[in-house]
Amino acid sequence: MRKEKILVLDFGSQYTQLIARRVRENKVYSEIFPFNTRIEKIKNFNPKGIILSGGPSSVYDTKAPIPDSALFKLGIPVLGICYGMQLMAYLFEGKVVKAQKREYGKAEITVNNRIALFKGIPTKTIVWMSHGDRIEQCPSQFKPIAYTANSPIAAMANKKMGFYALQFHPEVVHTPRGFDILKNFLFKICGCTPTWTIKSFIDTATKEIKEKVRNKKVVCGISGGVDSAVTAVLVHRSIKDQLTCIFVDNGVLRAGEAKKVEDTLRRHFDMNIHCVDASERFLNKLYGIVDPEMKRKIIGNEFIKVFEEEAKKIKGVRFLAQGTLYPDVIESVPFKGPSATIKSHHNVGGLLKRMKLKLIEPLRELFKDEVRLLGKELGIPDEIINRHPFPGPGLAIRVIDEVTHERCDIVRKADAIVLEEIKKAGLYTELWQAFAVLLPVKSVGVMGDERTYENVIAVRAVKSLDGMTADWARIPYDIMGKISNRIINEVNGVNRVVYDISSKPPSTIEWE
Ligand code: XMP
Repeated sequence: MRKEKILVLDFGSQYTQLIARRVRENKVYSEIFPFNTRIEKIKNFNPKGIILSGGPSSVYDTKAPIPDSALFKLGIPVLGICYGMQLMAYLFEGKVVKAQKREYGKAEITVNNRIALFKGIPTKTIVWMSHGDRIEQCPSQFKPIAYTANSPIAAMANKKMGFYALQFHPEVVHTPRGFDILKNFLFKICGCTPTWTIKSFIDTATKEIKEKVRNKKVVCGISGGVDSAVTAVLVHRSIKDQLTCIFVDNGVLRAGEAKKVEDTLRRHFDMNIHCVDASERFLNKLYGIVDPEMKRKIIGNEFIKVFEEEAKKIKGVRFLAQGTLYPDVIESVPFKGPSATIKSHHNVGGLLKRMKLKLIEPLRELFKDEVRLLGKELGIPDEIINRHPFPGPGLAIRVIDEVTHERCDIVRKADAIVLEEIKKAGLYTELWQAFAVLLPVKSVGVMGDERTYENVIAVRAVKSLDGMTADWARIPYDIMGKISNRIINEVNGVNRVVYDISSKPPSTIEWE
């Protein structure tokens, strides 16, 4: 069966990815293309419907993003959201004006035309607005279908052509019936069927991997993180022992990490795993390095070298499997977080060329939450699926200043205590990350009758949705007390613990 697809054209809204995810939550596959995608590419993609996202521009800006208008001649239903609506009004010669009052936040719309898009939606319903310009006059081919106190035309439609437009954002949770409105667009207007599920994804992906790999061999680097684990398990499900996983212990991992990952994946899935203890190599290279970016480079480069040496030991390897996710490949997203750029640290480009390997990226189409669902479906244990993100350069960027064996040991022990207490308190899953940082200062303390002059550990715990912004977590004082007592009592060389109460921005999550 052909995969039914919805195309989301991106005009720069912070909610573009959310639109695509909402569509997928309805079991319809969707992808994001930049607003200026050529019409041939859109035709080839063959969508059942097109959604025009919002965006920060005004249609009157000199550099306003305008798509190829041939898109309205494809005979495919179109839903414009916010800027997408203003654009439709503008292109179809309605009247778009700069609103005197910017409408931002909650508003109540009144539905005044019971059209398919609003099937089952009450006449009055709350929606989330965020726009400057508004539409004062509908294009002649359109009819207004809803209004608010500030927007005489909060939604409009041309039923015959299948064109619909909303001034508000149906994709955000602040529009309580937004999900139903999107559902109406997908199923009543575009005629989609809800068939895109994680189960169907597994079937298709395993088949595709098998066809691509045939009888050749595949290597996959695993880090203990969810993306690489899910990639490995999915590829393994498809080609079994033709896959070999490589786990590199770089000496800056958390306590017991290497063994935990190896045990879990081997125990549950009986995979071939090569564990390489390269810790001395990495630590020797890192010795005396202070600059965080240098630390990252050294670890990235060394990883490639070790990985290549190991991969070369496996005869007949032709493919490298990698856990690239959809947010890393969307062309139109102008800013990517450090975790996206970091994949270029583990820059496998050279490796592919030198070893003549081809890439397999089975998660390329998925968002992070879909990868977690996939992992669950594949039977990967929760401790891997719900694991906090851990940066590639590991503890090296949590030992501020110079990295030494001893300083890594200190932060590793402190980190283990932080995580243990956070888990015991049942806080782990509500936090994005929690960890210890070793500061490059010493402080005076007193233990027994003796004056001490020792290290300071900073504890960092943050809540976040995607790592791009974060707020420091309000950990109950008694838990903080326990963490502090245990670190000072159990970790030699530490006599003070402080808690980091900075948000991102302006701070970052990591200290380096
Ligand atoms: P920052 O510190 O920039 O971190 O607020 C945002 C998220 O990215 C992670 N991070 C990294 N991940 N390599 C990685 O794989 C890195 O060099 C790196 N630096 C930061 C960080 O842990 C947080 O989740």
